[in-house]
Amino acid sequence: MQIADIDFCSVKDLNELCAVESACFPAPWPRHVIVGDIENGDVVYIKAIIMCRIAGYSVIARSDEKESHLMNIAVLPEFRRAGIASQLLAAVGEIALYWGCGGMRLEVRVSNAAARNFYTKSGFKYDKTINAYYSDGEAAWTMLASLPFPKFPA
Ligand SMILES: CC(C)(COP(=O)(O)OP(=O)(O)OC[C@H]1O[C@@H](n2cnc3c(N)ncnc32)[C@H](O)[C@@H]1OP(=O)(O)O)[C@@H](O)C(=O)NCCC(=O)NCCS
Repeated sequence: MQIADIDFCSVKDLNELCAVESACFPAPWPRHVIVGDIENGDVVYIKAIIMCRIAGYSVIARSDEKESHLMNIAVLPEFRRAGIASQLLAAVGEIALYWGCGGMRLEVRVSNAAARNFYTKSGFKYDKTINAYYSDGEAAWTMLASLPFPKFPA
């Protein structure tokens, strides 16, 4: 396990966030979308820093008074399986609790077995399948978790 410094993102992080996004997704979020998100403050971006580099990041939004929405989580390939996403998830869970949310939901590609496994291990449960959720026609699973998350494993 690698212990990361977790902090809020700012527009200064844009190049690194875009690099993580490009390394992690075939259809990365466009730069202007990330800038708009960070500047508007409707959603919260947090980053995991290892040795002065952004190793991963996560995005959380408040859907309503009771529920938060995990909009993204991504870790650079060379930093995976070292607990970085788990630390990011714990941090967005704290933000959602601060907002007063009792739960978190997300969507994940049906084909993304690594992410589905990560979420299941982290306390999320399958909710339903949404056909043709993504622009390429792939279906999504929605998954739900209660907050607070189970205690971080020792
Ligand atoms: C999914 C992702 C965020 C996981 O990041 P990570 O930092 O490697 O995750 P962690 O090290 O915290 O993993 C915690 C646990 O999740 C599970 N897990 C994580 N990656 C896994 C994989 N590739 N295969 C199976 N299980 C996995 C394991 O149980 C792992 O515990 P272990 O390493 O002790 O076995 C990362 O693979 C990623 O960035 N993928 C590309 C982007 C993406 O698909 N994001 C999700 C969008 S919905």
